[in-house]
Amino acid sequence: MEWARDIFQENSVSTRDLIQPIFVIPGANTEEPAPGLTGVNRYTPDLAAKRAKEVWDVGIRSAMVLPCPHPEMKTLDAKEAINTTGFLAEAVAEMKEAAPELGLIGDIALDVYTTHGHDGLMNSKTGVIENDATIARLAEQSIAQAQMGFDALAPSDMMDGRVSAIRAALEHADFQDVMIFPHSAKYASALYGPYRGAVGSDTSLGKRDKRTYQQNPANAKEALREVALDIQEGADAIICKPGIFYLDVIHQITDKFKIPVIAFDVSGEYAMMMSAAEQGLIDHDAVLLEKMVSFKRAGASAVVSYSASHVAELLT
Ligand code: PBG
Repeated sequence: MEWARDIFQENSVSTRDLIQPIFVIPGANTEEPAPGLTGVNRYTPDLAAKRAKEVWDVGIRSAMVLPCPHPEMKTLDAKEAINTTGFLAEAVAEMKEAAPELGLIGDIALDVYTTHGHDGLMNSKTGVIENDATIARLAEQSIAQAQMGFDALAPSDMMDGRVSAIRAALEHADFQDVMIFPHSAKYASALYGPYRGAVGSDTSLGKRDKRTYQQNPANAKEALREVALDIQEGADAIICKPGIFYLDVIHQITDKFKIPVIAFDVSGEYAMMMSAAEQGLIDHDAVLLEKMVSFKRAGASAVVSYSASHVAELLT
């Protein structure tokens, strides 16, 4: 009766649904483990290009590029974020050469470039993250990333009004075709720890948290209001982050707005499963495929996952 289960199966995962995050570090010819994320590496631009080709060759169509700048590149005004000749630009150029059709998504936020690890610019007297000054910087960062060759930008900062500011800046600079996938539903989650370790923003952030701009995990209606605003401001798709704890939010967004939703299976979700598997407590690959199809069942069109290339291998 396997055939009957097959023909009636409602959802499935394909390599085309997957987005691979790729961590990039400055330098050359170096590939090193990302701290806290077993099995995930960080690559210098030349090796990021090799990784991009590998990802393309297993059938994945898109990658999210996550820069890990050196500590000395971090400043209060996050100026490395708008550097069009730095290591991120170099990585994008090399990745595009190695895998020209792989869609590259850029992360728009200042956290990896600021000395304090916040996604926005901080008023050093009050410690407040200044929304409007940040938006101006994010618009500049967006132009810089469009110039580097990114196909889509994914603002993960959660400032109010940034999608329209970025859209306007892109139009003005003649980048009409660069898409915007805002993290509209991004929660102040405790699941980002390994990412912050991997990009080196954990020590900058210290004991501070991001609750003044990221959402309260107790709220779903708030996420729907944020999505409505971002769609009005010009979003092409919506990112929901984290993933598995927020399947109800993904479902409500797709149900209400009929816009493509990308689930972000974040670092803490990846690490929990790896650690359970290392202890022999779960069958990692079986749980992974179950997790992926759960995103699809909830309504997601695509999933950003550190496991993406592994899922692709399991599917072929
Ligand atoms: C912030 C950003 C975060 C992640 C990616 N970009 C979260 C944060 O530090 O607030 C998390 C990704 C992950 O945990 O995998 N711009």
